[in-house]
Amino acid sequence: MPPPSVLIAGAGPSGLILALVLLQNGVPVRIIDKEPKHRIGARGTGVQPRTLELYAILDILPEFHKYGAPIVPMAMYKPGDIEPSKVAPLAQWVDPTPDTPHPNAIMITQERHEAILRDQLQKLSCAVELGSELCSFEQFSDHVVANITKTDADGKQVTESTQFDWLVGAEGARSVVRKQLGLSFLGETQEQIVALGDIVIEEGMDPKLWHMWKLPPRLLSLRSCNSGNNLFNFAYSGRPKHSAEKTLTREEFIEDFYALTGKRDVKFGAATWMSNWRPNMRMVDTMRSGRVFIAGDAAHCHSPTGGQGLNSSVQDAVNLGWKLALVQKGLAPATLLDTYSEERIRVIAQMLKLTTALYSKTFTAGQAATDDDSEWKRGGDLSMLGVNYCGSSIVLEDGDAGSASAYSKAAGSPVQAAYRAPDASGLVRAGGPTTLFATFSVAVHTVLLFGGNTASRTTIAGILNQLPADAVRTVLVMLQGQSVGDDAALFSEVLEDREGYAYSGYGLTMSELAVVIVRPDGVVGAVVPDAEGVKRYFQGIFV
Ligand SMILES: Cc1cc2nc3c(=O)[nH]c(=O)nc-3n(C[C@H](O)[C@H](O)[C@H](O)COP(=O)(O)OP(=O)(O)OC[C@H]3O[C@@H](n4cnc5c(N)ncnc54)[C@H](O)[C@@H]3O)c2cc1C
Ligand SMILES: *[C@@H]1O[C@H](CO)[C@@H](O)[C@H](O)[C@H]1NC(C)=O
Ligand SMILES: *[C@@H]1O[C@H](CO)[C@@H](O)[C@H](O)[C@H]1NC(C)=O
Repeated sequence: MPPPSVLIAGAGPSGLILALVLLQNGVPVRIIDKEPKHRIGARGTGVQPRTLELYAILDILPEFHKYGAPIVPMAMYKPGDIEPSKVAPLAQWVDPTPDTPHPNAIMITQERHEAILRDQLQKLSCAVELGSELCSFEQFSDHVVANITKTDADGKQVTESTQFDWLVGAEGARSVVRKQLGLSFLGETQEQIVALGDIVIEEGMDPKLWHMWKLPPRLLSLRSCNSGNNLFNFAYSGRPKHSAEKTLTREEFIEDFYALTGKRDVKFGAATWMSNWRPNMRMVDTMRSGRVFIAGDAAHCHSPTGGQGLNSSVQDAVNLGWKLALVQKGLAPATLLDTYSEERIRVIAQMLKLTTALYSKTFTAGQAATDDDSEWKRGGDLSMLGVNYCGSSIVLEDGDAGSASAYSKAAGSPVQAAYRAPDASGLVRAGGPTTLFATFSVAVHTVLLFGGNTASRTTIAGILNQLPADAVRTVLVMLQGQSVGDDAALFSEVLEDREGYAYSGYGLTMSELAVVIVRPDGVVGAVVPDAEGVKRYFQGIFV
């Protein structure tokens, strides 16, 4: 492999996913983390449906299904309760459909989540370099120089100065890159301090429930990490200010637990991870400066209640990854990189309003002990299936969709530019059964052709075949029993829509030609009826 062209600072979910997307695009990367060992702890445990879909496109979903678990029901306790006064599901179970095969969030500890991502990187011969801290950088018109300080096992430090084409700061909320760029990080830090940790519970707590005690002003949440070793994750807020400033000890936690819940028969084991956390809700106003980018928590911090931080970090990484790859390969102009910030900032700004509102309801608002669990009924917008890039300068939209909410699903036809491309199962290719998600890849635009006739499709193929071959895949989707003309050979692949799910799910028919251009991040870039539209879309992408 040639020397890495991209330096990724930070090996949390954002950095790991970005590395994976770039490597799947054939762009060599170097990924460093300042910690001497991989971090432990449950931290962000929820994975949203849209994140699962992106993992399907990245071809890494099976591992998440193997280790992940459905979100368990919440057990609510009021003051004096030994048994919960109410047990209710957090999110309504949604049945999978051919167009939305992963409609339910799963829970997986962030520790396991990151380990899975690192394994996937390893398969592409990439390893995270531990004990390597990005200290400073300097950027020039055609490169970036980064100072990386490496600390070895004996604590000896060496600083290297290395040149890259691009630098991405994915180093979390305290991002060195963001600070050195001098980007504003506007928003608020809550007064409230939340103690977080993972502790073994040998007996006395049901791991199949998410336990929640509302004991104003205190709030205690406890749920199984689902890691097969009786580990539970807790979040505990509302302690008096003077004691909350210090990190809670295991003994203090246990003492408070017994006093608050009355459940003195619960047997605790070791506490593996303890931390103090002050909720932040902040974001930058741009995520790019020349050859330097920021992604994930470095660019936006969230309330934990909506469970959006990790999920939106993954979307940042996928959005940036394909664009950076095209520019690095000389296939797209550098201005394409401005659309990363353009598209993501709008989504994040709207999400912060959402999760901030959720946070005030859950952790602060009056602290009344009520049965109201509406704030926990997520699903809906938080599934992120409605996240869209309406108004983006590179999406060809019809009508005035630009005014839509960044989180709401398309109101019109089932497939719409700027929204997620739905899946479809029941397809058949030469090698056997397949799905649209299996056809999509983060390394290419997938151009789906529906309907039309040999003549109209041949005209489109003429345009498509002038585009960079390894950046565009063309797929002809035929209904069962429809004969394919001579034009079949002009496409990368012909799929038979055996069950009709692709045609019905996309709201299309054989009688009219429709070209659906799916971006590498699984977002529909354009839905057009002719070659003119195809040309217009790709003029906005390639050089
Ligand atoms: C208690 C808690 C609960 C949460 N729950 C959820 C949840 O349920 N759902 C959700 O979506 N999100 C949740 N989050 C948020 C989620 O953990 C973050 O959004 C997510 O980790 C962000 O990923 P990231 O890769 O951007 O940053 P991080 O995970 O913070 O990773 C940054 C990495 O960069 C490294 N680093 C820092 N500085 C440097 C440097 N100078 N050089 C090199 N490396 C550096 C760090 O060591 C770290 O490994 C929670 C967070 C916390 C704290
Ligand atoms: C992602 O979304 C899920 C589903 O709502 C949520 O439970 C989870 O906490 C989120 N993940 C993170 C790490 O924020
Ligand atoms: C690297 O560190 C050295 C020593 O602190 C400093 O003089 C130099 O300007 C730094 N270079 C970059 C690219 O940050």
